[in-house]
Amino acid sequence: MFLGKVKIINQIQVAPGSYQMTMRAKEVANAFQPGQFVHIRVSEEFNPILRRPFSIYRTNKKTGRIEILYKVVGEGTKILSEKKRGDKLDILGPLGNGFRIDKNLDKAILLGGGMGVAPLLELAVSCQRQGINKIIIFLGAKAKVFILGEKEFKDLGVEVKVATEDGSYGYKGMVTGLFKEEIEKESHPAKNTQLFASGPPPMLRALARLTFRYHLPAQVSLEARMACGLGVCRGCVVRVKDKKAYYKRVCKDGPVFDLSEVSWE
Ligand SMILES: Cc1cc2nc3c(=O)[nH]c(=O)nc-3n(C[C@H](O)[C@H](O)[C@H](O)COP(=O)(O)OP(=O)(O)OC[C@H]3O[C@@H](n4cnc5c(N)ncnc54)[C@H](O)[C@@H]3O)c2cc1C
Ligand code: FES
Repeated sequence: MFLGKVKIINQIQVAPGSYQMTMRAKEVANAFQPGQFVHIRVSEEFNPILRRPFSIYRTNKKTGRIEILYKVVGEGTKILSEKKRGDKLDILGPLGNGFRIDKNLDKAILLGGGMGVAPLLELAVSCQRQGINKIIIFLGAKAKVFILGEKEFKDLGVEVKVATEDGSYGYKGMVTGLFKEEIEKESHPAKNTQLFASGPPPMLRALARLTFRYHLPAQVSLEARMACGLGVCRGCVVRVKDKKAYYKRVCKDGPVFDLSEVSWE
């Protein structure tokens, strides 16, 4: 695990209020597994004191670059969006447990709601490396301008299906609606197929119902407000169905969990 200052190589706005930042962080790029995150100290000032967690969107082991994709939602992400090329950032990572790819998998269905796309691009690359011949991604957002990563997935040869809430691009409605339509077309959807999803809690809750109904194994990347990021403070726990554990830490036990393990009550 790396802790230290890294240089920002580039930062571009990719959608209204959304940015893609590239950093040189060789140790992180080398150690990274899809689904892991970096914990970033966005300011040298006292406030905000806590680091902010971001999924690693893309890595390049040769150049030692890592990229994050993020949306401005508050003070920390606002400060981050004002960083310039050449600025330095204090980062910790890669952290957490990423996605697990079963070696018998024939088909990987990826589903990203909004910024939930961030941990899925490198997952698609890993699925391809493991020889999974069918990879499909469902991307959902409020409107066309907020659909991110479409080109990057297509460049990999991944089949892309898009849903927008306002109907400005692709299927009109929630991405879970599009996913449901597609899965209902298949006669045996769960055979050697796995869903990997990331996005807002209502989307994941809807997926929990759908995957239960269609007996589809699923892994999800969860988000929670974090402090230490190292499993110590227990500030990031989620409820799980395990009667012995009750709660698990998103930063250390996750952020990727089996969807069936998470309690949505
Ligand atoms: C493992 C992990 C990976 C993440 N990856 C990404 C990513 O790739 N791209 C991205 O844009 N965001 C990602 N996030 C969320 C990101 O960390 C938060 O948006 C960020 O910390 C907000 O900081 P802020 O200071 O701007 O907002 P704050 O001022 O702290 O909060 C602003 C608003 O956002 C809500 N919020 C803050 N943090 C979270 C959180 N972790 N989960 C849910 N709601 C939150 C607050 O409740 C509040 O309503 C990830 C979170 C986790 C735990
Ligand atoms: S943030 Fe401290 S235990 Fe997860």
